[in-house]
Amino acid sequence: MKIGAFDINTITKNDCMKAMPLMPSNSVDLILTDIPYGNVSKNGEERAKYSGQLRKLDKEDADVETFDLIEFLDECYRLLKGSIYIFCGIEQMSTVFDYFDSKTDMTTRQCIWHKTNPSPVNGQHYWIHAIENCVYAKKRKTTFNQHCKHNVWDFPAGRGKIHPTQKPLGLFKYLIESSTFEGEVVFDPCIGSGTTAVAARELNRQYIGFDISEEYVGKANERLSAIHIAK
Ligand SMILES: C[S@@+](CC[C@H](N)C(=O)[O-])C[C@H]1O[C@@H](n2cnc3c(N)ncnc32)[C@H](O)[C@@H]1O
Repeated sequence: MKIGAFDINTITKNDCMKAMPLMPSNSVDLILTDIPYGNVSKNGEERAKYSGQLRKLDKEDADVETFDLIEFLDECYRLLKGSIYIFCGIEQMSTVFDYFDSKTDMTTRQCIWHKTNPSPVNGQHYWIHAIENCVYAKKRKTTFNQHCKHNVWDFPAGRGKIHPTQKPLGLFKYLIESSTFEGEVVFDPCIGSGTTAVAARELNRQYIGFDISEEYVGKANERLSAIHIAK
């Protein structure tokens, strides 16, 4: 099965801004993505430069913003049938929130991933960082498989990561289960190490993923092959 130019259940090397226009409108049930936060790298570099006692918090190229955020959101909205989760940096948060909040057919929430095992780095200098932001928005009368659950999600950060900003598999499975049924299509335009696809496959959902980095597309596909072998 294809969605526009792309085979279902594949992760391919693509700039999402060039690839998303090749997909038809209303073609994916859920978008679950974690965009480059942009500022994290920059701040990490600056802090490392000016402050000898602070450890560098750089996330390599994976964190570099490569697209106009509003143009990206326009494409996501066009493709979307159901819900969207966008993990993003604090500076991006209000742009993403306001974008979906202005759509009359959507309900929007700020959500927090609470890392239950935060890194103690620099904890002797200030509060350690234990949260990440996510904007959730849902088209009216689409799937929500939870009841009275709140918007703070407690999950440990994974160890032994293959991507500098890799998200926990358990968290992504929780979000996919909450917002789709089996067989539905989950799309991640910035998939990194493939967490969204691994979660979708383990839950019998379909997926499509893009990443601009050949290296991470390779690693994500290796991760998916390992699930095949395990089955
Ligand atoms: C925050 S990371 C995603 C990490 C992922 N959630 C995981 O668990 O591994 C963002 C990813 O977006 C990719 N990226 C940046 N710009 C892109 C673009 N224009 N199109 C597709 N991918 C892009 C980066 O290469 C990076 O791997």
